[in-house]
Amino acid sequence: MKKAIVVGASSGIGYQLAVLLAANGYKVGITGRRDQLLLNLQKTNPEQFVVSVFDVTDIADAPLKLKELTDELGGLDLLVLSSGTGKINPTLDTSIEQGINALNVSGFTAVANWSYNFFQKQGFGHFAAITSIAGIRGSRQAPAYFASKAFQINYLEGLRQKAKQTKLPIYITDLRPGFVDTDMAAGENLFWVAPVEKAARQIISAIDNKRDVAYITKRWRIIAFLFWILPKAIHKRL
Ligand SMILES: NC(=O)c1ccc[n+]([C@@H]2O[C@H](COP(=O)([O-])OP(=O)(O)OC[C@H]3O[C@@H](n4cnc5c(N)ncnc54)[C@H](OP(=O)(O)O)[C@@H]3O)[C@@H](O)[C@H]2O)c1
Repeated sequence: MKKAIVVGASSGIGYQLAVLLAANGYKVGITGRRDQLLLNLQKTNPEQFVVSVFDVTDIADAPLKLKELTDELGGLDLLVLSSGTGKINPTLDTSIEQGINALNVSGFTAVANWSYNFFQKQGFGHFAAITSIAGIRGSRQAPAYFASKAFQINYLEGLRQKAKQTKLPIYITDLRPGFVDTDMAAGENLFWVAPVEKAARQIISAIDNKRDVAYITKRWRIIAFLFWILPKAIHKRL
């Protein structure tokens, strides 16, 4: 039986990914801080879910918890990092920005590095992370969120290059959602909001196909392209 860990499986995209991976025959380690939500998920399929409760921003503890969970699962083929946070921050409150950095940058790095090093040592594996279309350009609405997603995208590119050099079957997948109908997507002026089940199905397909990068849902590639080509002079005025 293949083994996977979903970091951030207590709600939203990570929850649905855990459900689909279990349905696809994986034994799945599920993590988050909200233990009761994880235990509720485990109860739906006690044979296939293993719970580990930890805070990704505790960057000393998170790698230890991942190692323990991997031992409990009896190995690891795939780690999906879905934990993330974001908040509109019009007043540029520094504590909000630093809170986002703590999870999306420092915590992300801790999980990504543990995962990459584990897979390199065992000679194979797949690390996938939910980044965002937000990582393509900066935004006055939420500078830290958009910048942290740019960091993640760039970091994954670095790991992919590193994996290629090893010539080992190690895969790095960058999953870039637009809007997905979860607690995080609360707000006005949202469009093309994907049901979480549809987003999760497309993410699983991208992982199965060992894609480098995938837009979730697929039509968000169009917005990504428009973001890319938008002249700086116009972007500055938005
Ligand atoms: N929804 C969207 O429209 C959208 C769009 C683009 C990208 N994304 C990205 O998708 C990912 C998942 O978000 P979502 O939409 O599924 O939102 P969500 O329902 O709020 O899920 C966030 C997950 O992150 C976990 N988490 C938050 N803080 C954590 C911490 N300090 N330590 C460990 N886990 C933590 C939460 O678990 P606990 O609270 O139990 O710890 C939860 O499982 C995020 O990286 C987000 O940036 C979402």
